[in-house]
Amino acid sequence: MSANTFYVTTPIYYVNDAPHIGHAYTTLACDVLARFLRLDGWQVKFLTGTDEHGQKVEKSAAAAGIPPKDFVDKVSGNFRELAEAMHFSNDDFIRTTEARHFKAAQALWKALEANGQVYLGSYSGWYSVRDEAFYGEKELIDGKAPTGADVEWVEEPSYFFRLSDWQAPLLEFYEANPEFIAPKSRRNEVLSFVKSGLHDLSISRTSFKWGIPVPGQPDHVMYVWLDALTNYMTGVGYPDTECEAFSTYWPANVHMVGKDILRFHAVYWPAFLMAAGIAPPKRIFAHGWWTNEGQKISKSLGNIIDPFELIAKYGLDPVRFFLLREVPFGKDGDFSHEAIVHRTNGDLANDFGNLVQRVLSMIHRNCDAAIPKPGAQTEADAALLAEMAGILAVLRKEMQAQAFHKALGALWQSIGQANRYVDGEAPWELKKKDPARMETVLYVLAESIRHLAILVQPVMPDAAAKILDQLAVPEDARRFEHLTGDHALKPGTPIPKPEGVFPRFVEEEADAGR
Ligand code: MSP
Repeated sequence: MSANTFYVTTPIYYVNDAPHIGHAYTTLACDVLARFLRLDGWQVKFLTGTDEHGQKVEKSAAAAGIPPKDFVDKVSGNFRELAEAMHFSNDDFIRTTEARHFKAAQALWKALEANGQVYLGSYSGWYSVRDEAFYGEKELIDGKAPTGADVEWVEEPSYFFRLSDWQAPLLEFYEANPEFIAPKSRRNEVLSFVKSGLHDLSISRTSFKWGIPVPGQPDHVMYVWLDALTNYMTGVGYPDTECEAFSTYWPANVHMVGKDILRFHAVYWPAFLMAAGIAPPKRIFAHGWWTNEGQKISKSLGNIIDPFELIAKYGLDPVRFFLLREVPFGKDGDFSHEAIVHRTNGDLANDFGNLVQRVLSMIHRNCDAAIPKPGAQTEADAALLAEMAGILAVLRKEMQAQAFHKALGALWQSIGQANRYVDGEAPWELKKKDPARMETVLYVLAESIRHLAILVQPVMPDAAAKILDQLAVPEDARRFEHLTGDHALKPGTPIPKPEGVFPRFVEEEADAGR
Protein backbone atom coordinates (compact mmCIF):
# COMPACT_ATOMS: atom_id res chain seq x y z
CA MET A 1 0.00 0.00 0.00
CA SER A 2 1.35 3.47 -0.80
CA ALA A 3 1.81 5.95 2.02
CA ASN A 4 -0.72 8.64 2.83
CA THR A 5 0.26 11.83 1.06
CA PHE A 6 0.04 15.41 2.32
CA TYR A 7 0.78 18.73 0.66
CA VAL A 8 1.24 21.77 2.91
CA THR A 9 2.17 25.28 1.81
CA THR A 10 3.08 28.63 3.35
CA PRO A 11 2.09 31.92 1.76
CA ILE A 12 4.89 33.12 -0.48
CA TYR A 13 6.41 36.18 1.11
CA TYR A 14 6.70 39.60 -0.45
CA VAL A 15 10.32 40.46 -0.98
CA ASN A 16 9.81 44.14 -0.23
CA ASP A 17 11.32 43.81 3.19
CA ALA A 18 13.36 41.75 5.65
CA PRO A 19 11.76 38.63 7.19
CA HIS A 20 9.95 39.20 10.50
CA ILE A 21 8.24 37.10 13.14
CA GLY A 22 5.04 36.75 11.06
CA HIS A 23 6.95 35.01 8.29
CA ALA A 24 8.74 32.75 10.73
CA TYR A 25 5.47 31.87 12.43
CA THR A 26 3.47 30.74 9.39
CA THR A 27 6.33 28.65 8.06
CA LEU A 28 7.05 27.15 11.49
CA ALA A 29 3.49 25.87 11.74
CA CYS A 30 3.85 24.18 8.34
CA ASP A 31 7.25 22.80 9.28
CA VAL A 32 5.95 21.20 12.46
CA LEU A 33 3.03 19.65 10.63
CA ALA A 34 5.29 18.37 7.84
CA ARG A 35 7.81 16.91 10.28
CA PHE A 36 5.08 15.28 12.33
CA LEU A 37 3.49 13.59 9.33
CA ARG A 38 6.83 12.44 7.91
CA LEU A 39 7.72 10.84 11.26
CA ASP A 40 4.30 9.23 11.17
CA GLY A 41 5.03 7.58 7.82
CA TRP A 42 3.30 10.02 5.46
CA GLN A 43 4.72 11.13 2.15
CA VAL A 44 4.83 14.91 2.52
CA LYS A 45 5.48 17.86 0.26
CA PHE A 46 6.14 21.16 2.05
CA LEU A 47 6.45 24.27 -0.10
CA THR A 48 7.47 27.81 0.77
CA GLY A 49 8.92 30.65 -1.25
CA THR A 50 8.80 34.30 -2.26
CA ASP A 51 6.28 36.53 -4.03
CA GLU A 52 8.42 38.75 -6.18
CA HIS A 53 6.19 40.72 -8.53
CA GLY A 54 3.81 43.65 -8.23
CA GLN A 55 3.88 47.33 -7.54
CA LYS A 56 4.98 47.01 -3.93
CA VAL A 57 8.14 45.13 -4.82
CA GLU A 58 8.77 47.38 -7.83
CA LYS A 59 8.55 50.45 -5.59
CA SER A 60 10.86 48.96 -2.95
CA ALA A 61 13.43 48.17 -5.65
CA ALA A 62 13.18 51.74 -6.95
CA ALA A 63 13.61 53.08 -3.42
CA ALA A 64 16.70 50.92 -3.02
CA GLY A 65 17.96 52.27 -6.35
CA ILE A 66 18.53 48.87 -7.95
CA PRO A 67 16.83 47.00 -10.81
CA PRO A 68 13.90 44.86 -9.58
CA LYS A 69 15.56 41.57 -10.51
CA ASP A 70 18.71 42.35 -8.52
CA PHE A 71 16.58 43.54 -5.63
CA VAL A 72 14.40 40.42 -5.51
CA ASP A 73 17.42 38.13 -5.77
CA LYS A 74 18.89 39.79 -2.70
CA VAL A 75 15.75 39.86 -0.55
CA SER A 76 14.62 36.38 -1.55
CA GLY A 77 18.01 35.20 -0.24
CA ASN A 78 17.10 36.56 3.21
CA PHE A 79 14.06 34.31 3.27
CA ARG A 80 16.13 31.28 2.35
CA GLU A 81 18.47 32.18 5.19
CA LEU A 82 15.53 32.39 7.55
CA ALA A 83 14.45 28.90 6.49
CA GLU A 84 17.93 27.62 7.33
CA ALA A 85 18.19 29.49 10.61
CA MET A 86 14.78 28.17 11.74
CA HIS A 87 15.67 24.64 10.56
CA PHE A 88 12.65 24.52 8.30
CA SER A 89 12.34 21.28 6.38
CA ASN A 90 10.70 22.60 3.21
CA ASP A 91 11.15 20.33 0.18
CA ASP A 92 11.17 23.19 -2.29
CA PHE A 93 11.50 26.97 -2.33
CA ILE A 94 9.59 28.67 -5.09
CA ARG A 95 10.25 32.12 -6.52
CA THR A 96 7.63 33.69 -8.75
CA THR A 97 10.39 35.05 -11.01
CA GLU A 98 11.35 31.51 -12.04
CA ALA A 99 10.59 30.23 -15.55
CA ARG A 100 8.56 27.28 -14.20
CA HIS A 101 6.23 29.74 -12.50
CA PHE A 102 5.78 31.99 -15.56
CA LYS A 103 4.73 28.89 -17.43
CA ALA A 104 2.23 27.87 -14.75
CA ALA A 105 0.69 31.32 -14.27
CA GLN A 106 0.28 31.87 -18.00
CA ALA A 107 -1.24 28.40 -18.39
CA LEU A 108 -3.80 29.13 -15.69
CA TRP A 109 -4.64 32.43 -17.41
CA LYS A 110 -5.17 30.60 -20.71
CA ALA A 111 -7.36 28.00 -19.05
CA LEU A 112 -9.53 30.76 -17.58
CA GLU A 113 -9.69 32.48 -20.95
CA ALA A 114 -10.57 29.27 -22.77
CA ASN A 115 -13.45 28.78 -20.34
CA GLY A 116 -14.86 32.24 -21.09
CA GLN A 117 -13.94 33.58 -17.64
CA VAL A 118 -11.89 36.58 -18.74
CA TYR A 119 -12.96 39.78 -20.55
CA LEU A 120 -11.35 43.11 -21.36
CA GLY A 121 -12.70 46.22 -19.66
CA SER A 122 -11.30 49.12 -17.78
CA TYR A 123 -10.77 49.52 -14.07
CA SER A 124 -11.40 52.70 -12.24
CA GLY A 125 -11.30 52.56 -8.49
CA TRP A 126 -9.12 52.40 -5.43
CA TYR A 127 -5.97 50.32 -5.09
CA SER A 128 -3.70 49.79 -2.13
CA VAL A 129 -0.12 49.04 -3.07
CA ARG A 130 0.71 47.87 0.46
CA ASP A 131 -2.10 45.29 0.39
CA GLU A 132 -1.88 44.75 -3.38
CA ALA A 133 -5.67 44.84 -3.29
CA PHE A 134 -8.57 46.66 -4.94
CA TYR A 135 -11.12 48.30 -2.65
CA GLY A 136 -14.65 49.51 -3.30
CA GLU A 137 -15.58 53.07 -2.32
CA LYS A 138 -17.85 51.74 0.44
CA GLU A 139 -15.06 49.71 2.01
CA LEU A 140 -12.86 52.74 2.69
CA ILE A 141 -12.63 54.09 6.21
CA ASP A 142 -11.58 57.75 6.48
CA GLY A 143 -10.09 57.58 2.99
CA LYS A 144 -7.97 54.52 3.78
CA ALA A 145 -8.22 50.79 3.17
CA PRO A 146 -9.95 48.82 5.98
CA THR A 147 -6.45 47.57 6.86
CA GLY A 148 -5.29 51.15 7.41
CA ALA A 149 -3.20 51.15 4.24
CA ASP A 150 -3.12 54.15 1.89
CA VAL A 151 -5.09 53.81 -1.33
CA GLU A 152 -4.66 55.48 -4.69
CA TRP A 153 -7.11 56.08 -7.52
CA VAL A 154 -6.41 53.86 -10.53
CA GLU A 155 -7.89 54.15 -14.01
CA GLU A 156 -6.57 51.83 -16.66
CA PRO A 157 -7.51 49.18 -19.22
CA SER A 158 -7.74 45.85 -17.45
CA TYR A 159 -8.83 42.28 -17.93
CA PHE A 160 -11.49 41.06 -15.55
CA PHE A 161 -12.30 37.66 -14.10
CA ARG A 162 -16.00 36.80 -13.84
CA LEU A 163 -15.88 36.43 -10.07
CA SER A 164 -19.54 37.44 -9.76
CA ASP A 165 -20.53 34.19 -11.52
CA TRP A 166 -18.93 32.20 -8.72
CA GLN A 167 -20.91 33.44 -5.75
CA ALA A 168 -23.40 30.55 -5.77
CA PRO A 169 -20.86 27.82 -6.61
CA LEU A 170 -18.58 29.09 -3.83
CA LEU A 171 -21.38 29.04 -1.27
CA GLU A 172 -22.24 25.50 -2.34
CA PHE A 173 -18.60 24.54 -2.08
CA TYR A 174 -18.31 25.92 1.49
CA GLU A 175 -21.51 24.12 2.40
CA ALA A 176 -20.29 20.81 0.99
CA ASN A 177 -16.84 21.22 2.60
CA PRO A 178 -17.37 22.51 6.12
CA GLU A 179 -13.69 21.91 6.93
CA PHE A 180 -12.44 24.08 4.06
CA ILE A 181 -11.95 27.21 6.16
CA ALA A 182 -10.48 26.94 9.64
CA PRO A 183 -10.86 28.00 12.35
CA LYS A 184 -14.67 28.13 12.41
CA SER A 185 -14.89 31.83 13.29
CA ARG A 186 -13.01 32.69 10.12
CA ARG A 187 -15.36 30.57 8.07
CA ASN A 188 -18.32 32.71 9.10
CA GLU A 189 -16.43 35.83 8.13
CA VAL A 190 -15.80 34.50 4.60
CA LEU A 191 -19.36 33.27 4.22
CA SER A 192 -20.84 36.64 5.01
CA PHE A 193 -18.41 38.36 2.65
CA VAL A 194 -19.42 36.08 -0.23
CA LYS A 195 -23.11 36.32 0.63
CA SER A 196 -22.90 40.10 0.49
CA GLY A 197 -22.19 39.83 -3.27
CA LEU A 198 -19.10 39.45 -5.44
CA HIS A 199 -17.92 41.86 -8.14
CA ASP A 200 -15.84 40.85 -11.12
CA LEU A 201 -12.17 41.11 -10.29
CA SER A 202 -9.56 43.13 -12.15
CA ILE A 203 -6.77 40.66 -12.97
CA SER A 204 -4.34 42.66 -15.06
CA ARG A 205 -2.51 45.98 -14.76
CA THR A 206 -1.09 48.28 -17.41
CA SER A 207 0.44 51.10 -15.36
CA PHE A 208 3.65 49.26 -14.46
CA LYS A 209 5.73 46.43 -15.85
CA TRP A 210 7.04 44.26 -13.00
CA GLY A 211 4.93 41.16 -13.41
CA ILE A 212 4.14 38.19 -15.59
CA PRO A 213 2.91 39.31 -19.04
CA VAL A 214 -0.65 38.38 -19.92
CA PRO A 215 -0.41 35.77 -22.71
CA GLY A 216 -0.63 37.54 -26.07
CA GLN A 217 -1.10 40.97 -24.39
CA PRO A 218 2.35 42.26 -23.47
CA ASP A 219 0.96 45.64 -22.37
CA HIS A 220 -0.74 43.92 -19.44
CA VAL A 221 0.92 42.19 -16.50
CA MET A 222 -1.05 39.71 -14.42
CA TYR A 223 -2.52 40.95 -11.13
CA VAL A 224 0.03 39.92 -8.52
CA TRP A 225 -2.44 37.82 -6.50
CA LEU A 226 -3.42 35.69 -9.50
CA ASP A 227 0.28 35.25 -10.22
CA ALA A 228 1.14 34.50 -6.59
CA LEU A 229 -1.67 32.05 -5.79
CA THR A 230 -0.65 29.94 -8.78
CA ASN A 231 2.63 29.15 -7.01
CA TYR A 232 0.89 26.38 -5.08
CA MET A 233 0.34 24.55 -8.35
CA THR A 234 3.70 25.47 -9.88
CA GLY A 235 5.29 23.70 -6.93
CA VAL A 236 3.72 20.41 -8.00
CA GLY A 237 4.42 20.68 -11.71
CA TYR A 238 1.40 22.54 -13.17
CA PRO A 239 0.58 22.90 -16.05
CA ASP A 240 1.56 19.26 -16.41
CA THR A 241 -1.47 17.88 -14.59
CA GLU A 242 -0.48 14.34 -15.57
CA CYS A 243 2.93 14.47 -13.87
CA GLU A 244 3.63 12.49 -10.75
CA ALA A 245 3.90 15.46 -8.41
CA PHE A 246 0.60 16.96 -9.52
CA SER A 247 -1.29 13.70 -9.40
CA THR A 248 0.19 12.83 -6.02
CA TYR A 249 -0.22 16.18 -4.27
CA TRP A 250 -3.02 18.16 -5.87
CA PRO A 251 -5.39 19.28 -4.39
CA ALA A 252 -3.21 20.60 -1.57
CA ASN A 253 -4.19 19.50 1.94
CA VAL A 254 -3.55 22.79 3.71
CA HIS A 255 -2.63 26.29 2.65
CA MET A 256 -1.51 27.91 5.88
CA VAL A 257 -2.07 31.69 5.86
CA GLY A 258 -2.39 34.68 8.17
CA LYS A 259 -5.87 36.04 8.79
CA ASP A 260 -5.15 39.12 6.66
CA ILE A 261 -4.87 37.12 3.46
CA LEU A 262 -7.75 34.74 4.01
CA ARG A 263 -10.05 36.35 1.44
CA PHE A 264 -7.56 35.85 -1.38
CA HIS A 265 -7.18 32.18 -0.46
CA ALA A 266 -10.71 31.24 0.50
CA VAL A 267 -12.63 33.25 -2.12
CA TYR A 268 -10.51 34.19 -5.14
CA TRP A 269 -8.36 31.06 -5.24
CA PRO A 270 -11.13 28.42 -5.25
CA ALA A 271 -13.08 30.57 -7.73
CA PHE A 272 -10.08 30.75 -10.11
CA LEU A 273 -9.57 27.02 -9.80
CA MET A 274 -13.19 26.01 -10.26
CA ALA A 275 -13.38 28.36 -13.24
CA ALA A 276 -10.34 26.65 -14.76
CA GLY A 277 -11.79 23.21 -14.05
CA ILE A 278 -9.23 22.37 -11.34
CA ALA A 279 -10.01 21.01 -7.87
CA PRO A 280 -9.69 23.60 -5.06
CA PRO A 281 -7.43 22.88 -2.06
CA LYS A 282 -8.86 20.95 0.87
CA ARG A 283 -8.28 23.50 3.58
CA ILE A 284 -7.24 27.07 4.26
CA PHE A 285 -6.13 27.61 7.84
CA ALA A 286 -5.95 31.26 8.90
CA HIS A 287 -3.80 31.92 11.94
CA GLY A 288 -3.82 35.05 14.07
CA TRP A 289 -1.39 37.90 14.43
CA TRP A 290 1.33 38.62 16.97
CA THR A 291 1.62 41.88 18.80
CA ASN A 292 4.86 42.95 20.50
CA GLU A 293 4.56 43.65 24.24
CA GLY A 294 0.90 44.54 23.65
CA GLN A 295 1.50 46.81 20.64
CA LYS A 296 0.62 46.30 17.02
CA ILE A 297 3.79 45.46 15.12
CA SER A 298 4.68 48.00 12.47
CA LYS A 299 7.67 49.43 10.74
CA SER A 300 6.67 52.97 11.68
CA LEU A 301 6.59 52.05 15.38
CA GLY A 302 9.99 50.43 14.94
CA ASN A 303 8.94 47.35 16.90
CA ILE A 304 9.39 44.67 14.25
CA ILE A 305 10.52 41.38 15.78
CA ASP A 306 13.52 40.02 13.90
CA PRO A 307 13.52 36.21 14.00
CA PHE A 308 17.31 36.04 13.60
CA GLU A 309 17.68 38.15 16.76
CA LEU A 310 15.20 35.97 18.63
CA ILE A 311 17.19 32.84 17.79
CA ALA A 312 20.45 34.50 18.85
CA LYS A 313 18.95 35.63 22.15
CA TYR A 314 16.77 32.70 23.25
CA GLY A 315 18.01 29.77 21.17
CA LEU A 316 16.19 28.11 18.29
CA ASP A 317 14.27 25.40 20.12
CA PRO A 318 12.83 27.71 22.80
CA VAL A 319 11.67 30.09 20.05
CA ARG A 320 10.03 27.30 18.05
CA PHE A 321 8.39 25.96 21.21
CA PHE A 322 7.22 29.33 22.47
CA LEU A 323 5.59 30.42 19.22
CA LEU A 324 3.42 27.33 19.05
CA ARG A 325 2.81 26.76 22.78
CA GLU A 326 1.99 30.26 23.91
CA VAL A 327 -0.99 31.05 21.69
CA PRO A 328 -3.87 28.84 20.54
CA PHE A 329 -3.23 28.42 16.83
CA GLY A 330 -5.78 30.57 15.02
CA LYS A 331 -5.95 33.26 17.75
CA ASP A 332 -3.99 36.49 18.03
CA GLY A 333 -1.18 36.50 20.57
CA ASP A 334 1.27 38.74 22.31
CA PHE A 335 5.01 38.34 22.19
CA SER A 336 6.81 39.46 25.31
CA HIS A 337 10.25 38.88 26.74
CA GLU A 338 8.68 37.87 30.03
CA ALA A 339 6.43 35.28 28.38
CA ILE A 340 9.20 33.56 26.42
CA VAL A 341 11.48 33.49 29.47
CA HIS A 342 8.63 32.04 31.51
CA ARG A 343 8.11 29.22 28.99
CA THR A 344 11.86 28.62 28.62
CA ASN A 345 12.51 28.37 32.33
CA GLY A 346 9.22 26.71 33.28
CA ASP A 347 8.06 24.28 30.59
CA LEU A 348 11.50 23.60 29.15
CA ALA A 349 14.15 23.91 31.88
CA ASN A 350 12.08 22.93 34.93
CA ASP A 351 9.57 20.46 33.56
CA PHE A 352 11.17 18.63 30.66
CA GLY A 353 14.84 19.53 31.17
CA ASN A 354 14.95 18.52 34.81
CA LEU A 355 13.16 15.27 34.14
CA VAL A 356 15.70 14.29 31.51
CA GLN A 357 18.67 15.59 33.44
CA ARG A 358 17.91 13.92 36.74
CA VAL A 359 16.97 10.57 35.22
CA LEU A 360 19.94 10.40 32.89
CA SER A 361 22.43 11.45 35.54
CA MET A 362 21.05 8.88 38.01
CA ILE A 363 21.42 6.19 35.35
CA HIS A 364 24.90 7.38 34.48
CA ARG A 365 25.99 7.44 38.11
CA ASN A 366 24.17 4.44 39.52
CA CYS A 367 23.76 1.98 36.66
CA ASP A 368 27.30 1.88 35.25
CA ALA A 369 26.37 4.38 32.51
CA ALA A 370 24.12 1.87 30.77
CA ILE A 371 20.36 1.42 30.31
CA PRO A 372 19.21 -0.37 33.51
CA LYS A 373 17.55 -3.75 33.61
CA PRO A 374 13.88 -3.65 34.61
CA GLY A 375 12.25 -6.20 36.92
CA ALA A 376 8.54 -6.86 37.51
CA GLN A 377 6.29 -3.84 36.89
CA THR A 378 4.10 -2.21 39.52
CA GLU A 379 0.80 -0.55 38.77
CA ALA A 380 2.47 2.85 38.78
CA ASP A 381 5.06 1.68 36.24
CA ALA A 382 2.39 0.29 33.95
CA ALA A 383 0.29 3.44 34.27
CA LEU A 384 3.17 5.69 33.24
CA LEU A 385 4.10 3.49 30.28
CA ALA A 386 0.45 3.35 29.21
CA GLU A 387 0.28 7.14 29.39
CA MET A 388 3.31 7.36 27.09
CA ALA A 389 1.89 4.82 24.66
CA GLY A 390 -1.33 6.81 24.47
CA ILE A 391 0.12 10.21 23.49
CA LEU A 392 0.53 9.55 19.77
CA ALA A 393 -3.19 9.04 19.18
CA VAL A 394 -3.93 12.37 20.86
CA LEU A 395 -1.24 14.18 18.88
CA ARG A 396 -2.50 12.76 15.59
CA LYS A 397 -5.93 14.17 16.26
CA GLU A 398 -4.63 17.60 17.29
CA MET A 399 -2.22 17.84 14.36
CA GLN A 400 -4.93 16.99 11.83
CA ALA A 401 -6.82 19.97 13.28
CA GLN A 402 -3.65 22.14 13.33
CA ALA A 403 -4.14 22.57 17.08
CA PHE A 404 -0.42 22.81 17.84
CA HIS A 405 -0.96 24.36 21.28
CA LYS A 406 -3.18 21.44 22.27
CA ALA A 407 -0.69 18.88 21.00
CA LEU A 408 2.02 20.51 23.12
CA GLY A 409 -0.36 20.80 26.06
CA ALA A 410 -0.96 17.05 25.87
CA LEU A 411 2.77 16.30 25.74
CA TRP A 412 3.45 18.48 28.75
CA GLN A 413 0.67 16.81 30.67
CA SER A 414 2.51 13.53 30.19
CA ILE A 415 5.79 15.19 31.22
CA GLY A 416 4.00 16.29 34.40
CA GLN A 417 2.91 12.73 35.03
CA ALA A 418 6.48 11.48 34.59
CA ASN A 419 7.71 14.10 37.05
CA ARG A 420 5.10 13.07 39.62
CA TYR A 421 6.20 9.46 39.16
CA VAL A 422 9.83 10.39 39.86
CA ASP A 423 8.80 12.19 43.03
CA GLY A 424 6.53 9.33 44.10
CA GLU A 425 9.05 6.56 43.46
CA ALA A 426 12.07 8.57 44.72
CA PRO A 427 14.67 6.41 42.95
CA TRP A 428 17.50 8.19 44.84
CA GLU A 429 16.24 6.55 48.04
CA LEU A 430 16.13 3.12 46.41
CA LYS A 431 19.81 3.00 45.66
CA LYS A 432 20.65 1.47 49.05
CA LYS A 433 17.22 0.11 50.00
CA ASP A 434 16.30 -1.79 46.86
CA PRO A 435 18.72 -1.40 43.93
CA ALA A 436 16.75 -3.78 41.69
CA ARG A 437 13.63 -1.65 42.13
CA MET A 438 15.70 1.46 41.43
CA GLU A 439 16.72 -0.07 38.11
CA THR A 440 13.10 -0.76 37.20
CA VAL A 441 12.04 2.80 38.06
CA LEU A 442 14.90 4.30 36.08
CA TYR A 443 14.16 2.02 33.15
CA VAL A 444 10.50 3.04 33.11
CA LEU A 445 11.59 6.68 33.18
CA ALA A 446 14.20 6.26 30.44
CA GLU A 447 11.62 4.55 28.25
CA SER A 448 9.16 7.39 28.98
CA ILE A 449 11.77 9.95 28.00
CA ARG A 450 12.41 8.03 24.78
CA HIS A 451 8.71 8.40 23.93
CA LEU A 452 8.61 12.09 24.84
CA ALA A 453 11.76 12.91 22.87
CA ILE A 454 10.54 11.07 19.76
CA LEU A 455 7.21 12.87 19.95
CA VAL A 456 8.67 16.32 20.53
CA GLN A 457 10.94 16.09 17.45
CA PRO A 458 8.61 18.03 15.10
CA VAL A 459 8.67 21.10 17.35
CA MET A 460 12.21 20.95 18.77
CA PRO A 461 14.22 18.77 16.40
CA ASP A 462 17.61 19.73 17.85
CA ALA A 463 16.83 19.27 21.52
CA ALA A 464 15.02 16.01 20.76
CA ALA A 465 18.05 14.71 18.85
CA LYS A 466 20.33 15.53 21.80
CA ILE A 467 18.07 13.65 24.22
CA LEU A 468 17.81 10.65 21.91
CA ASP A 469 21.60 10.67 21.48
CA GLN A 470 21.98 10.65 25.24
CA LEU A 471 19.70 7.62 25.44
CA ALA A 472 21.75 5.98 22.66
CA VAL A 473 18.66 5.58 20.47
CA PRO A 474 19.94 4.86 16.93
CA GLU A 475 19.11 7.53 14.36
CA ASP A 476 17.07 5.09 12.32
CA ALA A 477 14.88 4.20 15.30
CA ARG A 478 13.34 7.61 15.97
CA ARG A 479 10.14 7.46 13.97
CA PHE A 480 6.66 7.09 15.41
CA GLU A 481 6.55 3.47 14.29
CA HIS A 482 9.29 2.91 16.87
CA LEU A 483 7.02 3.94 19.73
CA THR A 484 6.24 0.35 20.55
CA GLY A 485 7.54 -2.22 23.00
CA ASP A 486 9.49 -3.93 20.18
CA HIS A 487 11.75 -0.93 19.97
CA ALA A 488 12.01 -0.28 23.70
CA LEU A 489 15.43 0.60 25.13
CA LYS A 490 17.72 -2.39 25.48
CA PRO A 491 19.07 -2.94 28.99
CA GLY A 492 22.85 -2.81 29.09
CA THR A 493 23.19 -0.31 26.21
CA PRO A 494 25.92 2.15 27.21
CA ILE A 495 24.91 5.81 27.35
CA PRO A 496 27.16 8.86 27.12
CA LYS A 497 27.63 11.33 29.97
CA PRO A 498 24.45 13.42 30.10
CA GLU A 499 24.52 17.12 29.36
CA GLY A 500 21.77 19.68 30.00
CA VAL A 501 19.50 20.15 26.98
CA PHE A 502 17.29 23.04 28.09
CA PRO A 503 19.38 25.75 29.75
CA ARG A 504 17.62 28.36 31.87
CA PHE A 505 17.46 31.86 30.45
CA VAL A 506 19.48 34.13 32.71
CA GLU A 507 18.92 37.89 32.56
CA GLU A 508 22.23 39.51 31.75
CA GLU A 509 21.44 42.95 33.09
CA ALA A 510 20.03 41.59 36.32
CA ASP A 511 23.24 39.58 36.77
CA ALA A 512 25.43 42.55 36.06
CA GLY A 513 23.54 44.64 38.60
CA ARG A 514 24.04 42.17 41.43
N1 MSP B 1 2.68 37.73 -0.74
C1 MSP B 1 1.52 37.60 0.04
C2 MSP B 1 1.07 36.17 0.12
C3 MSP B 1 0.84 35.48 -1.18
S1 MSP B 1 0.39 33.84 -0.98
C4 MSP B 1 -0.09 33.33 -2.45
C5 MSP B 1 1.77 38.12 1.44
N2 MSP B 1 3.05 38.21 1.78
S2 MSP B 1 3.57 38.79 3.16
O1 MSP B 1 5.00 38.78 3.13
O2 MSP B 1 2.96 40.04 3.47
O3 MSP B 1 3.08 37.64 4.11
C6 MSP B 1 3.03 37.73 5.29
C7 MSP B 1 2.56 36.51 6.05
O4 MSP B 1 3.01 36.80 7.35
C8 MSP B 1 1.03 36.42 6.09
O5 MSP B 1 0.57 35.11 6.30
C9 MSP B 1 0.72 37.29 7.30
O6 MSP B 1 -0.47 36.96 7.93
C10 MSP B 1 1.90 36.97 8.19
N3 MSP B 1 2.11 38.04 9.15
C11 MSP B 1 2.51 39.33 8.91
N4 MSP B 1 2.57 39.99 10.10
C12 MSP B 1 2.20 39.15 11.09
C13 MSP B 1 2.13 39.24 12.50
N5 MSP B 1 2.38 40.35 13.16
N6 MSP B 1 1.80 38.10 13.17
C14 MSP B 1 1.59 36.90 12.53
N7 MSP B 1 1.65 36.80 11.22
C15 MSP B 1 1.83 37.95 10.46
O7 MSP B 1 0.84 38.42 2.13
